[in-house]
Amino acid sequence: MIAVLVLAAVFIGTVAGTIALLAPRTTEVPVAEPTDSGTPTPSPTPTPTPTPTPRPESPLKLTFDRRTLSIDDPSSLWVITNKLRPLDPKNYAAPDLVQTPVPFINSPVLRKEAADALVAMFAAYTAETGNQMQVQSAYRSYDVQVNVYNGWVSSLGQAGADLTSARPGHSEHQTGLAVDISAVPATCALQACFADTEQGKWLAKNAYKWGFVLRYPKGMTKITGYEFEPWHYRYVGVELATEMHTTGIKTLEQFFDLPAAPDYAG
Ligand code: DAL
Ligand code: ZN
Repeated sequence: MIAVLVLAAVFIGTVAGTIALLAPRTTEVPVAEPTDSGTPTPSPTPTPTPTPTPRPESPLKLTFDRRTLSIDDPSSLWVITNKLRPLDPKNYAAPDLVQTPVPFINSPVLRKEAADALVAMFAAYTAETGNQMQVQSAYRSYDVQVNVYNGWVSSLGQAGADLTSARPGHSEHQTGLAVDISAVPATCALQACFADTEQGKWLAKNAYKWGFVLRYPKGMTKITGYEFEPWHYRYVGVELATEMHTTGIKTLEQFFDLPAAPDYAG
């Protein structure tokens, strides 16, 4: 009898165990989230939400590239001509010259991009102040520069002329990218006192926004070769003009690490 009972108990236990194994699981077992590598994170312990930390500043800061455009090609917006850097060829004739629709004393011809920028700059000045500026002199061909330079030599002698007028083949005016600006009415035109006029002050402060730089600043004669010309602006484009403004580098010679050009080589 006892043996029968024991056998019955073993049989019932085995059946119950089998049923338990086949039954669906009801207990939640933590399952690790798959990682990118497909390897499950071993610890099921919940991790605290991390405090967001500021992203470190990117080491890839955008820097100004001084080799973006040529400083040798006379048709480049960045061409640099001075007493040591004649235009090549010396009788270079600028392309895409247009009449600039602004007030003027002498024909306001410039290269198209410089002309558009000048129109926008003059319009901004007039919108801001109600006053006007005008073009005193803009593009000058090699032949015109021969006459202009010779005129200065006649009145000032060669040494005096060389401080204020470029020899033919060395003038920014021959590139179609330089413009002499005066006030309307023309007070202090082509004189140092233009710097003290409302127009002269506005240009000194704002011209870079339209891509123009004051090419012959005060106190830079030993570098540029010319006396202070607060009226002579050179179009180089907004990117370079802004970079020179931001860095406080006043001359193209310094910005491009060129030798000072106080005088002609020969
Ligand atoms: N006055 C400037 C230097 C020129 O003649 O180009
Ligand atoms: Zn000039």
